[in-house]
Amino acid sequence: MIPLPTRRSTTRLARAIAGAAEPGDLVVLSGELGAGKTFLVRALLRAMGLPADERVTSPTFALVNDYEIRRRKIAHADLYRLGDASELEHLGLRDRRAEGAILLVEWGEPYEAALGGDALLVRIELGPPRTARLSASGERAARLAASVLAAAAPSA
Ligand SMILES: Nc1ncnc2c1ncn2[C@@H]1O[C@H](COP(=O)(O)OP(=O)(O)O)[C@@H](O)[C@H]1O
Ligand SMILES: [Mg+2]
Repeated sequence: MIPLPTRRSTTRLARAIAGAAEPGDLVVLSGELGAGKTFLVRALLRAMGLPADERVTSPTFALVNDYEIRRRKIAHADLYRLGDASELEHLGLRDRRAEGAILLVEWGEPYEAALGGDALLVRIELGPPRTARLSASGERAARLAASVLAAAAPSA
């Protein structure tokens, strides 16, 4: 469990994920509206090197926003409004992943398997107190979770 009492602590978690993520990784973000999923993604993209003048909008309606930062491809999705799993195929997220993009998917829990599995799940609880729990559904995701936890420890 990672306490997220302040935006700064969420930013620290985002930096830890940014530092450990590799091409093809799937990060699923869950937690109710306002939990901080988009905030975390924004901080993560900044940590990866997205220039401050490039805006990060919530993909609530677009469903997917694509970024290329320092030759790394990242797709930020919000599947809250996705009708059903068949629509997912049209979004092409799995294809992007196969091509090496890192997928950051809000509300992605129901689609984890359809996105290829082996996901790092970041479950944010609004609380109070606000917290994050990490879990992994595959070998690569488990390694990613371990690296993130090591880097995000509050004492670090
Ligand atoms: N510790 C924190 N971590 C993340 N967001 C926080 C925190 N404290 C306050 N906030 C605020 O909570 C809101 C989270 O909104 P958002 O990231 O859009 O949520 P979600 O995408 O989960 O619906 C933002 O306005 C953010 O500034
Ligand atoms: Mg959001």
